[in-house]
Parts: sequence; C-alpha cells; structure tokens
Amino acid sequence: MAKSAAPVVAGSVYEDGVVRAFALAAVLWGVVGMLVGVIIAAQLTWPELNLGIPWLSYGRLRPLHTNAVIFAFGGCSLFATAYHVVQRTGQTRLFAPTLAWFTFWGWQLVILSAAITLPLGITQGKEYAELEWPIDILITIVWVSYAIVFFGTVGTRKVKHIYVANWFFGAFIIAVALLHVVNSAALPVSMTKSYSAYAGVQDAMVQWWYGHNAVGFFLTAGFLGMMYYYIPKQAGRPVYSYRLSIVHFWALIFTYMWAGPHHLHYTALPDWAQSVGMVFSLVLLAPSWGGMINGIMTLSGAWHKLRDDPILKFLIVYLSFYGMSTFEGTMMSIKTVNALSHYTDWTIGHVHSGALGWVGLISMGSLYHLIPRMYGRTEMFSKRAIELHFWIATLGIVLYIAAMWIAGVMQGLMWRAVNPDGSLVYTFVESVKATYPFYIVRLVGGLFYLSGMLVMAWNVVKTVQIGRPVPTRIPTVLAHA
Ligand code: HEM
Ligand code: HEM
Repeated sequence: MAKSAAPVVAGSVYEDGVVRAFALAAVLWGVVGMLVGVIIAAQLTWPELNLGIPWLSYGRLRPLHTNAVIFAFGGCSLFATAYHVVQRTGQTRLFAPTLAWFTFWGWQLVILSAAITLPLGITQGKEYAELEWPIDILITIVWVSYAIVFFGTVGTRKVKHIYVANWFFGAFIIAVALLHVVNSAALPVSMTKSYSAYAGVQDAMVQWWYGHNAVGFFLTAGFLGMMYYYIPKQAGRPVYSYRLSIVHFWALIFTYMWAGPHHLHYTALPDWAQSVGMVFSLVLLAPSWGGMINGIMTLSGAWHKLRDDPILKFLIVYLSFYGMSTFEGTMMSIKTVNALSHYTDWTIGHVHSGALGWVGLISMGSLYHLIPRMYGRTEMFSKRAIELHFWIATLGIVLYIAAMWIAGVMQGLMWRAVNPDGSLVYTFVESVKATYPFYIVRLVGGLFYLSGMLVMAWNVVKTVQIGRPVPTRIPTVLAHA
C-alpha cells in the first residue's frame, strides 16, 4: 500500500462522510439482525413465543433475520469498507460523491422495505432473494450506482497499481449484479406478487447458482477485500505473498461459480450436474485455504501483538473460522456426507461458523479499525470493551456451532436408523424432542454473540461522542506511481 509523508493540497480531502454513515448503519443493523436471530432461536425452542401473531411467526421472521444480517449488517460493512479502501489505496477522492450518498439512502430504503414486507408475508419464496420485484428493481438501481462509484474511483486513482483488495471488492460488485438480475427475473402480477421466470428444476438450479454465489461473492469475496486491507494495516506488516493473493483471486472467482449444485444433491437435478458441483466444491478448498494461509502468514513477525491488540484477535480468529467453515463446506458437498447432513442442523452449524466466525468477526474487526479513524482518533473509546466483546463473541460462536453440530449429526443418524424389518427406529417427533436441549444451548450462544454486539454499539457511541469527523487530506506525492 502506498504510504507517504508528502505535502498535501489544501481542500483535497477524502470523501469520508458516506463511509461514516455506512459504518454506523452496519453497527445498528448488526444489533437488529442478531436480535431477530435470537428471537427465532427462542421460537424454535418455545414455538408459542410467536404469540399467535402472524407477522411474528417463525416463517416470516426467519427471512427477516437472514436479510438483516446478510444485506443490512454485511452489506453496510461492505459499502463502508469498499469506499474507504478504494480511496486510500488509489489516493483519490470517491468518484461521484452525490451518487455515493444515493447508494447510502437507497440501501437504507431497501432495508426498510424488507423490514416492512417480510413480516407482512410478502415474499418471492426464494432463499436470500425473498424481496418482491419493486424492491428488486430498487436494489438493481442502487447496485449499478455502487458499481459506478467504485469503478469510477478505481478509474480516477492516482496510484498506477490496483491494490488486490479492490480486485476482490470489484469482483463482488460485478458478480452480485449478475446474480441478482438473473435470479430475480420474474413476471409481476401485482405490486406485491410475481412469479419466477424459471420453472421446476431450472428454477432450483438458477436459485442455487445464485444462493451459493451469494455465499461466494457477497459473504466471501468482499470480506476477503477487507482481509487484504485491514489485516496488513492493523498488524503493520505487508501482505505475506502478493503473488499468492493474485492466484487466490483468480482461482476463487473461477471456482465458486460452478459449485452451486451441491445444494441440490439427490434432487431432480441431473446426476452429472450434482457431481460437477461436488468436484468444484472439492477444488474450492485450495483457493480458500490459500487465502487463509496468506492472511495468517501476514501476521508472522507480529504474533506478539496479539497479546495486547484485541482487534488483531478478531482478525486472526476470523481467519481460523474461515478455514474451518470452508473445510466443513467442502466435506458437506461430498454426496455421501450430504446424505447425512442435508435437512439437519449441521447445515445451520456450518452456516453460522461462516456467518458468526468469518463474516461477523472480520466486519467487527474492520469497523473497530475504521470507526475511530473516521472520528479523528487512532483508537476506540474503550480497548477493554473490545477485549470483552472478543471473548463473549467467541464463546457465543463455540456454543452455537457445537450445539448445532451435535444436534445435526444426531438428527441425521436418528432419521436413517432402521430396524431389521426395515421400519424406522425413531419417529420424526422423537428427533425433535432430542434436539430440544441443543436449541437451548444455541440460544445461549446467540445471546452471548448479541451481547458482544451491544458492547460494540456502546463503544461506538462513546467513540463518536469524544471524536470529531475530521477530514483527511489526500497525499499528493505518491510512494509508488
Ligand atoms: C446472535 C446471533 C445469531 C443468532 C442467534 C442466529 C440464529 C439463527 C436461527 C435460529 C436461524 C434459523 C435456523 C433454522 O432454520 O433452523 C438462523 C438462520 C440463518 N442465519 Fe443466523 N443467527 C445469528 C447471526 C447470524 C449472522 C451474523 C449471520 C450472517 C452474517 C447469520 C446468517 C444466517 C443464515 C444465512 C441463515 C439461514 C441458514 C440456512 O438456511 O441454512 N446469522 N440464524
Ligand atoms: C469452500 C467453501 C464452502 C463450501 C464448499 C461450502 C459448501 C456447502 C454445502 C455443501 C452446504 C450444504 C448444502 C445443503 O446440504 O443444502 C452449504 C450450505 C451453506 N453454506 Fe457453505 N460452503 C463453503 C463455505 C461457506 C462460507 C464461508 C459460508 C458463510 C460465510 C457459507 C455459508 C453457507 C450457507 C448460508 C449455507 C446454507 C444454504 C441454505 O441451504 O440456505 N459456506 N455450504
């Protein structure tokens, strides 16, 4: 990354207002999305908690949770960091700042529309793509504006080289546009109802091509962009291998696109397509672990900093969860393993080891680095609160995923157990009963994770109160042009 103690041109400052807005929104939506997660975890334990009110029912709140954590919390973190990183690494001001502000308000409107329509039961019924067609159109407009701002900034950069973090952010923006437009193709019949342009197994294939790449590009590529900027910055070390980061990039974006059919094992999808999905998922382990190793090795020579830098703790533990969840996903894509794991809580355990351990921790670590700097400080208000957050979040993840792993494998084994005469050993309801204690443990884990997020929200409010949004000047002489 370019560094310079060079003179500055007065008035030439980074466009950080929109970065600040997205960063604060990420914290707010993080609290809301995780709170809804805790509520649905409680409802799975005590179903009567829906209080008999339709818009509080599990089926409506579950997509509210997934949309809030992925698109509101994850999305705002991605907007904030992409806008921050692309300016710093290009030593230039954000292209079209007004359009950047439009992306902020437009994205908040998308979130608000989701928060109203999902509890009302207005949905396309496609996982992670539930929102109805008028909101889909708004998403497209905001996303195209995001692409113009991001690539416009890359195009007007003052540094010749395009730093690797921007490649990951760029791929995430392009791929999500493609996925969203193709998967959302639908025939509207009213303002709140539409039918998919695809039918039967083609619909399922398009949906899971979308769904898996939502994981690959929304929940992974953009967050790898964060990794390649914030880990070197926080550790004060260059990326371990820049060459590996380029190989990582191309291998990852090529491989992810083909792995979607692992969500459709043993379905009407042709067998060969399922096997293609499985093989590409096995290959995917290589770029995933290549990236993880590159991140971990960036810390070599700076391991001692882990002792008293809680932000680095977030960053290193999130890398471990990235390694773990990608290894687990690869194993689950093997058809015989999937025969056991599919439909069980094992999938939920896998999702949350990625979501809480990888997406959650890197977002929190990056925001802890970013927010004080956006308010004229180098540190958050309370370092001890960051430390506390780290430990309760980690404990929460462990409780959550361990409970789901045990519950999942137990369910899979109970469902396939047969007596010598071929009849089932257990009824379905017996497996539900046996899962009950694990749902309580998951709820406790979720409460821990949410409490950590509340500690973060308090720390952010304090930091904003004592800080000042000071404009940062753009260096004019470049370290490497
Ligand atoms: C306090 C933290 C959280 C709690 C208590 C929680 C709880 C839950 C629950 C109970 C479900 C439904 C499981 C089921 O249907 O059996 C769920 C689903 C899901 N959650 Fe969370 N969650 C939390 C945080 C997050 C975060 C931070 C993310 C993403 C960044 C996330 C992503 C998802 C996804 C993608 C699903 C759908 C999984 C699937 O369909 O297989 N969650 N969550
Ligand atoms: C090499 C990387 C990965 C592979 C090969 C992989 C593979 C898989 C497989 C086989 C499933 C189960 C499909 C089923 O039985 O229906 C699954 C589900 C899922 N994975 Fe992964 N995974 C990977 C990484 C990740 C990461 C890092 C995250 C989160 C950030 C993640 C999020 C999810 C979600 C949300 C689902 C649930 C989808 C649904 O049914 O709603 N995965 N993954």
